[in-house]
Amino acid sequence: MKRPKISRRTFIALGMGAVPGACTVNGLLVETRWIKVRAIDLASHPIVRLVHFTDVHYKGNRRYLTKVVHQINEISPDFVCFTGDLVEERRYLEEALDILRQVQRPIYGVPGNWDYWSRASFRAIARAFEQTGGAWLGDRGVTAAGGKVYIFGATGLQDSAEVSTEASRCLLLVHFPDFVQRPIEGRFDLILAGHSHGGQVRLPFLGPSILPPRVGNYDRGLYQTRLGPLYVNPGIGTYGSPIRFLCRPEITVISV
Ligand SMILES: [Fe+2]
Repeated sequence: MKRPKISRRTFIALGMGAVPGACTVNGLLVETRWIKVRAIDLASHPIVRLVHFTDVHYKGNRRYLTKVVHQINEISPDFVCFTGDLVEERRYLEEALDILRQVQRPIYGVPGNWDYWSRASFRAIARAFEQTGGAWLGDRGVTAAGGKVYIFGATGLQDSAEVSTEASRCLLLVHFPDFVQRPIEGRFDLILAGHSHGGQVRLPFLGPSILPPRVGNYDRGLYQTRLGPLYVNPGIGTYGSPIRFLCRPEITVISV
């Protein structure tokens, strides 16, 4: 039997169509739920190991968020930090909290812009986080890990964040990365932020395609800032288009 002949022009056209097609399938179906666990050591003699996750944007995908919780439980950190945007719509809050209550370590968290916009009940979130042994921090701080760590959660509504002289490590949780540019005194051992989603779609050599406001120059990863080391996590969920490209969802494990 004769093999069908494919002209060079058809071959190139097919190739040009296949690449964007594969990218779209990857961005829509694979990468949005392909969680990366990233480990970072910030101290030569760390005293705690924490997990940071952020920007869940829960829209009813119970299986995916349950997988996130299982992965966190498998890591078994000292405690867990969450930096905002749990839901976009209030109707998903109870289900999201039901799943997060299964985290077997204390969760400390701060709200993101979507938590305000959705008018989610902060009282319900606080209750759920307290049930894990953690706290919902609206411009206040608590001690954690048996008093070794002080965690201050800043909403960004005011220029306030404080350190503690009694704890061995001081952490700052914020939603907006550019919070580090505020006129605040003190130095933290670690600042955790979300909000940027890493751009969700990153282009080779060019970086993030679109970033929301209040990211500053801190779109993803570790930065040295005037207030201390800042880690910007690209988040678990998506907003706008349900797509990620070269920007996998992330659970970060940090020793500090
Ligand atoms: Fe977000």
